[in-house]
Amino acid sequence: MFKATAQACANIALIKYWGKRNQAFNIPATDSLSLTLDKLTTTSTIEFSDKFTADTLSLNDTPLIKDARLTMWLDIVRKKADCTQYASVSSTNHFPTASGLASSASAYASLTVAATHALKLNLSIQEQSDLARQGSASAARSLLGGLVLLPSGTDPQGKDSVAVAIDDCSDWDIAMIIVVINHGKMKSMSSRDAMNHCAKTSPLYQCWLDTTSSDIKQAKQAIAQRNLNTLGTIMEHNTFAMHGAAWASRPPVRYATPATIAVLDSVNELRKQNIDCYITMDAGPHVKILTTHKHIDAVENRLKTITGVTEIITSGVGKHAALV
Ligand code: PMV
Repeated sequence: MFKATAQACANIALIKYWGKRNQAFNIPATDSLSLTLDKLTTTSTIEFSDKFTADTLSLNDTPLIKDARLTMWLDIVRKKADCTQYASVSSTNHFPTASGLASSASAYASLTVAATHALKLNLSIQEQSDLARQGSASAARSLLGGLVLLPSGTDPQGKDSVAVAIDDCSDWDIAMIIVVINHGKMKSMSSRDAMNHCAKTSPLYQCWLDTTSSDIKQAKQAIAQRNLNTLGTIMEHNTFAMHGAAWASRPPVRYATPATIAVLDSVNELRKQNIDCYITMDAGPHVKILTTHKHIDAVENRLKTITGVTEIITSGVGKHAALV
C-alpha cells in the first residue's frame, strides 16, 4: 500500500531568508537560521493510487480545489520514484492556519517524510531536505529539531542548500510566544510573492542581502555562548532589515497592523523591566517573541491587554519530523 502519515513541527526563522537565488529549484538567496517549535505541528497523510484521477488536497478536513504548487512538488516526488499515480493528500494543522505562521514549513516537511516513505524512496536526510525545500524553502528546516541552519549554498540545483541541525537546545531554556493578531480587512501577500516583488522593486533589497551573513555569524556565536540578549538583539535587527526592505518595495509590502506595533512597544517596555524578550515577524501581522520560561507569565499577561491580539501560543523547542 502506497500510503503513509507523518508529523512535523513548524519553525520560526531567527535570521530570515527573503528572496531566492534560483526560482526553479526554490533556493534561498541567503542562509537562514530557525527554531523548531513543539506546539505548532502539522500531520499529513498521503496516498498514491491508480484509483485517483487527479491529485487532491484536503486541509483541516476541508477539500480544496486544485493546488498547482502541490502538484508541481508531487511531480518531483513521482519522478524520483518512477511513479505515475495521482495522490490524495490530507493535512491537519494543529494551530491556526494563518499567513506568517509557517504552516507551509510543517506541511511540506511532514509531506516529505510521508511521501518518501509511501513510495519506498530510501532518501538520506540531505536528499529529503532538498525535496522539502522545493515545496517550501522553510520546510527544509522543519525536517530537523532545535536550532537549524539552511545554507543558500552554491550548487546550481541546490544540492548543498540542505538543512543542518546546529543545536538541540537540550541545555538551554528558551521558549517562543506566538502572538496571533487579527488581520482585519487586510489582505496579506504570500511570502513567496512578497519576496519576489521585494527583490525586483526594493532599492533596499541588496542591503538586506548584504546584512544577513554577518547576522548569521553573530547569531551562531550568541547561541554557542547561550547569550539570549545578543541573539535576541540580532534577531530583531534582522527582522527589521527584512521588513524595511519590504516597505521600500513599489508598491510597499507591509504586514504590521496597529496591534502588531502595540506588541512591539510592549516588548520594549518589558525589556526595560529586565524581562528578556525579543521579537521577530514574518509574512503576516503576527509577532513571535523569543524568551525564557521564567518570563512567560509576565509576557503573556502584558499581551492579554492588547486589543487585536486574538490568541497566544507558547511553544518550547520542537523535534525532527517523523512518521506517525
Ligand atoms: O519558504 P516560505 O515560503 O515559507 O517563506 C518563508 C519566509 C519567511 O518566513 C519570511 C522567512 C523564513 O526564513 O522563514
